[in-house]
Amino acid sequence: MLIRRPPDIRESEVTDERLYVNRRQFIGRAASIGAGLGLVSAAPSLLSCAERGDAAGDASGAAAQDELTPYEDVTGYNNFYEFGTGKEDPARNAHTLQTRPWTVEVEGECNKPGVYDIEDILSRYPAEERIYRLRCVEAWSMVIPWLGFPLSDFLNDLEPTSAARFVEFTTLYDPEQMPGQRRNVLDWPYVEGLRMDEAMHPLAIFVVGLYGKELPNQNGAPLRLVVPWKYGFKSIKSIVRIRFMRRQPMNTWAVTAPNEYGFYANVNPEVDHPRWSQARERRIGEFRKRRTLMFNGYAEQVAHLYKDMDLRKYF
Ligand code: MTE
Repeated sequence: MLIRRPPDIRESEVTDERLYVNRRQFIGRAASIGAGLGLVSAAPSLLSCAERGDAAGDASGAAAQDELTPYEDVTGYNNFYEFGTGKEDPARNAHTLQTRPWTVEVEGECNKPGVYDIEDILSRYPAEERIYRLRCVEAWSMVIPWLGFPLSDFLNDLEPTSAARFVEFTTLYDPEQMPGQRRNVLDWPYVEGLRMDEAMHPLAIFVVGLYGKELPNQNGAPLRLVVPWKYGFKSIKSIVRIRFMRRQPMNTWAVTAPNEYGFYANVNPEVDHPRWSQARERRIGEFRKRRTLMFNGYAEQVAHLYKDMDLRKYF
């Protein structure tokens, strides 16, 4: 990303008690809001999982045993260049984004191209909680209780043809609503892509909320991707278009700096970014750095997708 040293950790981010209070508030909130987002089924599982702190959430590669990153940090320390390049810019500026009405256009190699309304998407695919680690290429990480549904549920309903080998996602382009797009820092609109087998993996989700609430604009409302075994830049926000393709799409960061950012972007402590090591990470809210895990800790679930690939070449 445009490369800035992360600011020093604020004192307020490190209090254990604060984390605890935050989690308790989260549990209360989640239990009370379910209905609004079609989340009725999410609240009970959330309660049991968060309270017991057991491995229930791990069936899907979740990180339920990790301490959650406080809501204020998840929604106040963001990368969303459409609203500025500073970490606090998106929270300050993203109120100009109009998330209703909102449609997602589907095109390319599939039997059900068309324009899909966000309300129909939300009612058709109920969101459930998935606690995933997000590891940014800038070497910080968070643990976030996302609300989402498997990307594969949505993609399968669009009936991709056998010619579809990749899928491309595009963010809204509207400099009126996204003032950061008036500056040439990236090649707008933001675009990302996945190989079809990656997109169909059960850990890849479409996210519509977090911490039991509707997704804040700065986190990519109303619909974003989360691919937890890849660096955060693959998790594209505020999606308006999906295209099934025969060829590998270009993705924004690989276009911007091809020697620094690749298409695959799998979290890999053994392959350094040309300008810094990827071996360790700073979990937001902690002082001591942690060792970064292969595939962000999801190796058991996803390593087979890359078994014959040289991950130094396909970074
Ligand atoms: N999507 C768009 N459209 N624009 C962006 O600048 N930043 C990416 C990703 N998705 C970005 C984006 C990066 S670099 C990261 S680390 C994650 O969003 C951050 O997600 P978060 O702010 O919800 O933590």
